[in-house]
Amino acid sequence: MSEPAAFDPTQRFAARTAQAPRFTAIPVVHDGLIRFGGGTPDPTTYPVEWFAAAFPEVLVEDRAAAWTYGGPAGFVGLREGIAAHLLARDGCEPTLDQILITNGISQGVALVAHTFLDPGDTVIVEQTTFPGSVATFRIEGAKIATVPLDDEGLIPEALEERLHQLQRQGERVKLLYAIPNFHNPTGSVLSEARREQLIAIAQRHGLIILQDDAYGDIRLADVHPTSLFALAPSHVLELGTLSKTIGPGLRVGWVRAAPEIITMLSAMRTDLGTTPMLHRLVARFLQAGQFGPHLERALACYRRKLAVMVAALEAHCAPWLQWRTPPGGFFLWLRFAGGDASAMGELCPAEGVVINTGRNFFATDPQPEYFRLSFSYLPAEELAEGVRRLGRALARYRAQREQAAGQARG
Ligand SMILES: Cc1ncc(COP(=O)(O)O)c(C=O)c1O
Repeated sequence: MSEPAAFDPTQRFAARTAQAPRFTAIPVVHDGLIRFGGGTPDPTTYPVEWFAAAFPEVLVEDRAAAWTYGGPAGFVGLREGIAAHLLARDGCEPTLDQILITNGISQGVALVAHTFLDPGDTVIVEQTTFPGSVATFRIEGAKIATVPLDDEGLIPEALEERLHQLQRQGERVKLLYAIPNFHNPTGSVLSEARREQLIAIAQRHGLIILQDDAYGDIRLADVHPTSLFALAPSHVLELGTLSKTIGPGLRVGWVRAAPEIITMLSAMRTDLGTTPMLHRLVARFLQAGQFGPHLERALACYRRKLAVMVAALEAHCAPWLQWRTPPGGFFLWLRFAGGDASAMGELCPAEGVVINTGRNFFATDPQPEYFRLSFSYLPAEELAEGVRRLGRALARYRAQREQAAGQARG
């Protein structure tokens, strides 16, 4: 009798996590390089003093409730605070049974994927999207299909065509994962007309829309997108987070969905709920009316930094790069027409700067011309200096290319 083959966990791991790394924490290194990293807030905006003053009160006054398990849906006071925020923002008040607190949006995506997806199901995503969520769907064994997007967001006609095509191929499409507000990486906002079209398609095809609203509060221009959830509560699961507005270290996010969905997601939890101690602290921040003024201060900071970034790009990179100033979010999505952003990115460290190439953000068919710059984290002076260095890397790339072309000519 032959020995059973030894189980090799590395193979299973490799197959399930073939997508890019789930997140890139910004390394704290002092090597003189300016890193245009990920979607991290400006550290000077963190409300450190307020939280430091309130935390002892939570530990002592909320003693019994703060120190024990809190139940699957999360502290009711925090859910009330989030409901009030969503009402003020979208004009549509969720009931408490429509809100589940999660460990950031990331856990919301994982819970939804675990609850809805069977291996072999298809999830449709925008062609460029947040790679962490694509990795989560793949870990559940899902296939990924994409739809293109433009300056007005996802293209509904292309989505419907894709759905027909997948249906003809016998694929089982369960979810559309989309980032309609201040998209990562492109910054686009789904137009109002397309919101209506998208909902109509979801209703026609029995499609669930999983809306990632990570940047929904980071409104830098006067843009007030209609809530998809308000348009069709039975077809939309909306994921929100405090990571971008207060700080990712909180790991506080939420799912807003129909009560029966919330019940299912709660039942799929295996972590005995998130952190009551922290929920009570954050709830106090919201109840004390701190969130609104805090957010306004943070948005003022991001508006200033975006202006610095755009001015620096115009001064140092404009002839070679194209971009659209985003109405919100943390990113500029740039096109290096006719160039290869990965190859150019390799020349950047020699000029003292590191960029994020666009490749990781394409769920399928990566296009080499694109890359993303984040303006949220770095101080304004470093943003300006980083873009100046990027301009030098672009010049170096072009010089190398011209030299290679000259050699090829003879
Ligand atoms: C589009 C998008 N979704 C989700 C996340 C992760 O959010 P959270 O910290 O709430 O898990 C990020 C973080 O960069 C993001 O950009």
